[in-house]
Amino acid sequence: MSSKHEFSRLKTDILIIGAGGAGLRAAISAVESGCSVIIATKSLLGKAHTVMAEGGIAASLGNVDPQDNWKVHFKDTYEEGVFLGNWKMIEILAKEAADRVYELERYGALFDRTPDGKIMQRAFGAHTYRRLCYVGDKTGLELIRTLQDKVAHSNAMVLDEFVVSKIITVNNRVAGAFGISMRDGTFKLIECKSLVMASGGLGRLFKVTSNSWESTGDGLALAYRAGAVLMDMEMVQFHPTGMVWPPAVRGLLVTEGVRGEGGLLYNKEGERFMLRYSPQKKELDARDVVARSIYREILAGRGTEHGGVYLDITHRGAKYIKEKLPSMYMQYKEFAGIDISKEKMEVAPTTHYHMGGIRVDPDTNMTNIEGLFAAGEAACGVHGANRLGGNSLVDLLVFGRRAGISASEYAKKVKQMKFDDSIVNEEIDRIISFTENPTSTNPYILIDQLRETMSKYVGILRSAEDLQKALDTITGLKGKARNVGILGGLRFNPGLIACLELNNLLLSAELVVRGAMERKESRGAHFRNDYPNLSDEWHKNILFTYNEGKNDITFQDVPELPDYLKDLFKEGQA
Ligand code: FUM
Repeated sequence: MSSKHEFSRLKTDILIIGAGGAGLRAAISAVESGCSVIIATKSLLGKAHTVMAEGGIAASLGNVDPQDNWKVHFKDTYEEGVFLGNWKMIEILAKEAADRVYELERYGALFDRTPDGKIMQRAFGAHTYRRLCYVGDKTGLELIRTLQDKVAHSNAMVLDEFVVSKIITVNNRVAGAFGISMRDGTFKLIECKSLVMASGGLGRLFKVTSNSWESTGDGLALAYRAGAVLMDMEMVQFHPTGMVWPPAVRGLLVTEGVRGEGGLLYNKEGERFMLRYSPQKKELDARDVVARSIYREILAGRGTEHGGVYLDITHRGAKYIKEKLPSMYMQYKEFAGIDISKEKMEVAPTTHYHMGGIRVDPDTNMTNIEGLFAAGEAACGVHGANRLGGNSLVDLLVFGRRAGISASEYAKKVKQMKFDDSIVNEEIDRIISFTENPTSTNPYILIDQLRETMSKYVGILRSAEDLQKALDTITGLKGKARNVGILGGLRFNPGLIACLELNNLLLSAELVVRGAMERKESRGAHFRNDYPNLSDEWHKNILFTYNEGKNDITFQDVPELPDYLKDLFKEGQA
């Protein structure tokens, strides 16, 4: 097939897709290694879900609780993931966390301090000790600001507002990627020796979410279609507290830092209901436990006027709140007209994070495709069935750096793979076809239906019946998506991007639902009303492989802990 449209060519050692925390941190390592680097992002440099990790970075510095150490962090993370996480990755995370935090400080991040000048640490759900290093309630933003500054002063090239639509592989090896610049509607082929996928998660699959418009599962779909194995796709985290009112900001994150600073949850009857659901850990139990408890209160009719519960931090007083939680103070003041130092917040669970994703080698972050690496939320392995708050920021620092180093080492060893331009021409024709279909279906309508369906049937409480309804709807939407199209041309046409995203969303949704149907147990964030218990039989990872247009599902036993890590679970060992 030949295309009448032109495309330009770029060449680089390493292409990084995604410019959030993981992509930026990978870029820093890759540039330091002397490789040429291009960062491609469909948004702007640093505009990513990273900023929504507001409350802190988890690292066992022991500045506030000196008993803390990497072993306790390991244990907390493995337990929170309900034993589904990869122990090797968790060990790496827990051991390297402190170095990455101090490094971030050297790069220029300004953390809050203890009275004696050390990095301050706060409590967060299901962390044994006060472990979250923080910058008020803007930690993700400060992390991004710091990394962004470092990258901006490096010789990495940034392609922003650039949508990658295809990864090109030859003989199971990465050769490049292809995409369209939203700014001017031009096509670009980027030839590369290695590629780091750091494109984040799929939160926009759901109607109520803390994720901004970028998180449409693109990287997962691109990698999967290129042959990368995806894992544990059913594991979607619902953060307990998002805003519920007004409707325009429904789902916007209310940081766990509020509960970390003493915030208490009440139902409309004034009962502090977490005492009933979790007498020991109360508001600071694991995210899945708190999210389910809130959801059950709402279902039982004890929710607030707008379908949430109350979160109260007024007892801390205005000075303390403005100092520790300045963004939350502003957010409620500006969006809801509420002064949180005087009134309670209304909150309800919101889709926040995807623990599933691209399977990677624990040591190198390489996927089963040679030269294709993944890091951050796009990758899978560390968080198992549920993620501890604060572990996403440290994950993207630790594994972003490692992916950047591994991608550089790989790029230095190999030659650029050659391929025929016909692959590119076919892709151009596919993209252009969306603009040349006068009787087409509007992609936004299908995306809305998909998001409605996922929130209704694949949320906090799942069942075979609901999941089947979701799968049937997705199958119907896939049929309609074949005829999708938009008016207008290639240049700055968000509708065109929606057509591309729709296919990624549908694929991601199907895998989330199919994984959820397969996993006949309740584990962490995945709760089945019809299988409410944890099952030893399901101590397995679910693997998804793209096989000539079919989605194949297989299972693997979760790698067993070595004895020295098993010992940590014996009384008094960690
Ligand atoms: O609640 C929060 O501040 C979110 C943190 C995280 O997801 O790690």
